[in-house]
Amino acid sequence: MTLPPSTLKWWQRGVVYQIYPRSFKDTNHDGVGDLNGIIEKLDYLNDGTPNSLGIDAIWLSPFQRSPMADFGYDVSDYCDVDPLFGTLADFDRLTAEAHRRGIKIIIDYVPNHTSDQHPWFIESRSSRTNPKRDWYIWRDPKPDGSLPNNWGSFFGGPAWTFDPATGQYYLHQFVKEQPELNWRNPEVVQAMLDVLRFWMKRGVDGFRMDVIGLIIKDKDLRDNPLNPNPPANLPPNDLFSRLLQVYNMDQDEVHEMVRRIRSTLDEFDDRVGIGELWGPLDRWVRYYGKNGEELQLPFNFRLMQQPWSAQAMRASVDELEAALPPFAWPNYVLGNHDQPRFASRFGGLAQARLAGMMLLTLRGTPTVYYGDEIGLENGVIPPEKIVDPQGKNLGAERSRDVCRTPMQWDSSPFAGFSDVEPWLPVSADYTTRNVAAESTDPNSMLSFYRRLFWLRKGSPALFGGSYRPVDAPGDCFVYWRESGSERKLVALNFSAKPLRLQAGLSGKARLALSTHPDAPAGVTLDALELRPYEGVILDVEG
Ligand code: NOJ
Ligand code: CA
Repeated sequence: MTLPPSTLKWWQRGVVYQIYPRSFKDTNHDGVGDLNGIIEKLDYLNDGTPNSLGIDAIWLSPFQRSPMADFGYDVSDYCDVDPLFGTLADFDRLTAEAHRRGIKIIIDYVPNHTSDQHPWFIESRSSRTNPKRDWYIWRDPKPDGSLPNNWGSFFGGPAWTFDPATGQYYLHQFVKEQPELNWRNPEVVQAMLDVLRFWMKRGVDGFRMDVIGLIIKDKDLRDNPLNPNPPANLPPNDLFSRLLQVYNMDQDEVHEMVRRIRSTLDEFDDRVGIGELWGPLDRWVRYYGKNGEELQLPFNFRLMQQPWSAQAMRASVDELEAALPPFAWPNYVLGNHDQPRFASRFGGLAQARLAGMMLLTLRGTPTVYYGDEIGLENGVIPPEKIVDPQGKNLGAERSRDVCRTPMQWDSSPFAGFSDVEPWLPVSADYTTRNVAAESTDPNSMLSFYRRLFWLRKGSPALFGGSYRPVDAPGDCFVYWRESGSERKLVALNFSAKPLRLQAGLSGKARLALSTHPDAPAGVTLDALELRPYEGVILDVEG
């Protein structure tokens, strides 16, 4: 369904930019990014002119108090800022400064688990009769002393750790320092909804909800069935991938909780709920709610899972469009703090530009990961410098450190990210791949991205129009984006060969943007020439 552009909400027409606070900008000389660093760079994100990216919202990965066993995804106080990142006063200043520039603030909400240092868990583990005992998931060993069930941790090993003091196991599907909350306990629900209220009162515009599909597990915690087709060459401790995820996530009862979360958001004006949700399309689409009463944006990661192929990308988009109920708004993601950089994944910078054009021109809200706009590739992290628990437990090739290297601002030592050695090594290419250098080069990735963002911003067809794919020969993904009398055609050549596109199109066309420099402005629509990996956005009359 297409809506008139004027009725779209900010989270529909806007672009979300994800910041991993540890890696964005350090201002107090400890090698770790902080909230003041983000404030310093707000003008880079949007100063109201095409010299900036022009993004509409930032999503901040966790900055709350945390012992950092999973770099902030193990929260020990949901309602405070970790001193490493700053203070609540800094956060308030960040919110005010962002809002002054028309940038909305989305923060991470980690409802499935706390840190083992959270006062709730310290109480819970203190005795079997403690009033907070049932706030977490404790189970007796089986009669033979073995684990309560066969579930594995995403980060390797079993999902249960034995606590000798009280003789029971607690559940954790990530590291053992991330015990899981029991959302079947109404007190937990109240406490966690209050966390949302706390931040909304401070001006937060929305939440990205970490592994939201996991917060309710099967009542009886049944064993998961064995995966008949596990990926090849699994490390021996990857118990998780050897099982099908049937009883540990996406339970019917989770939707009641997501509705409670949504109605809490709706106690305030115009807030957005974004969910981290994987799983098959039919399970995933349920998180919009039957009539839109759950999340506005269940994250759609499907493009990240596609090979480099126009057909595969189109199939993924068309499948999504077909699965969405009329009220549901699509969204697309190509990278985040858990996945290898797409400039590396898709094979190079030419592919990355084309992928960026696709992300910003499909129907729905795009989320852009920091650094993708300058073409950051995977960092090279020597094995002894790996800090990510997933990489440490499951092997270097599973390490997420590669996509968390410091943002490259300029060619000064440590890339202008910090003046001391950063927590992860700066990539070697920082002397040329950095914001300062790319800002002065009209053909750089950054200059291209800026044009793309601003073109989208000014085009109702791109930010709000309909999507209609066109059958095209070769490895080419072609679609119309239309709104009122505005018609834009997007043609993306995924192949390494030049292509002459004859897709039976007619009308007078003008080039709005190409991924490639020196593109001719005049275009012949019935025989469109595309260079290797070239993408174009055309204005078409008639
Ligand atoms: C998903 C987050 O994106 C990831 O970084 C984290 O490790 C896990 N959830 C656990 O919170
Ligand atoms: Ca710092």
